[in-house]
Amino acid sequence: MARTSPTDLEGRTAVVTGGARGIGLAIARELATRGANLALGDLNPDVAEVAAELGAEADVTTLGTSLDVTDPDSVDAVFRTVTETLGPPDLLVNCAGITHARDAIDVTPAEWNRVLAVNLTGTFLTCQAFARSCVAAGSPGAVVNIASMSGRIVNVPQPQASYNASKAAVEALTKSLAVEWIPLGIRVNAVSPGYIASDMTRQFIDANPEMGAFWRSRIPTGEMGEPEDVAGLVAWLLSPAARYVVGQSFVIDGGYTIV
Ligand SMILES: NC(=O)c1ccc[n+]([C@@H]2O[C@H](COP(=O)([O-])OP(=O)(O)OC[C@H]3O[C@@H](n4cnc5c(N)ncnc54)[C@H](O)[C@@H]3O)[C@@H](O)[C@H]2O)c1
Repeated sequence: MARTSPTDLEGRTAVVTGGARGIGLAIARELATRGANLALGDLNPDVAEVAAELGAEADVTTLGTSLDVTDPDSVDAVFRTVTETLGPPDLLVNCAGITHARDAIDVTPAEWNRVLAVNLTGTFLTCQAFARSCVAAGSPGAVVNIASMSGRIVNVPQPQASYNASKAAVEALTKSLAVEWIPLGIRVNAVSPGYIASDMTRQFIDANPEMGAFWRSRIPTGEMGEPEDVAGLVAWLLSPAARYVVGQSFVIDGGYTIV
């Protein structure tokens, strides 16, 4: 007997920003495994190839397209292309993000603005384009924004005020959009990872190997997470099983923030 589960995403269409590598790619793979068709949007030039490989691997339809989340024209163009090729998307994961470590007293306006532009404004622009698309299609939707535990704590020893502020703002944005858009049938939630082994964190560890050991010493599990550790909760939040979960941010950090 064929069984369906409330966590299946069969026949759904998801947009994943920052989907070409790292946490975004792990999330995309999890959504594909649950049956969703996928559009990956990323600045990374490998995005089309990565999407094609994922489609073949999971036997779903995929599209990989160039996207700069800071540029409203680029965001609109991606949603037009997705709608034309895969149909109107009903799931969105905002995972595109950057970090920048420098003493706050030395940070330039351009450095500050870039982090806020990608992490906060980019998340907003993509959410907005998604909500407009859902309204135009007359269909409901679900969004997960990837924030960070850095929105709640101050990472040490690296100084990263712009990143921490941007991620706190993503959690606040998530709550605001959740309240505004639940009457439209659009659920918005966030997931806030701790230290995850990806290119983003590798750049710190490669430059300063002792930093990785220091981070691990402060994590109750004693290890950094893997991108796959974030993916299951994101997929669940996007699924019908989470229909009553609205405007929340869930920390996945091996216990870092509780000690
Ligand atoms: N790695 C961690 O420890 C960690 C912890 C908490 C939160 N996060 C968040 O998770 C998300 C993914 O992080 P990751 O570790 O996989 O990083 P990553 O650097 O491996 O991947 C980020 C992806 O975003 C893309 N991107 C960057 N700027 C973009 C833009 N303007 N438009 C479109 N795409 C853009 C990059 O090309 C890259 O493919 C980020 O939002 C990050 O802040 C990461």
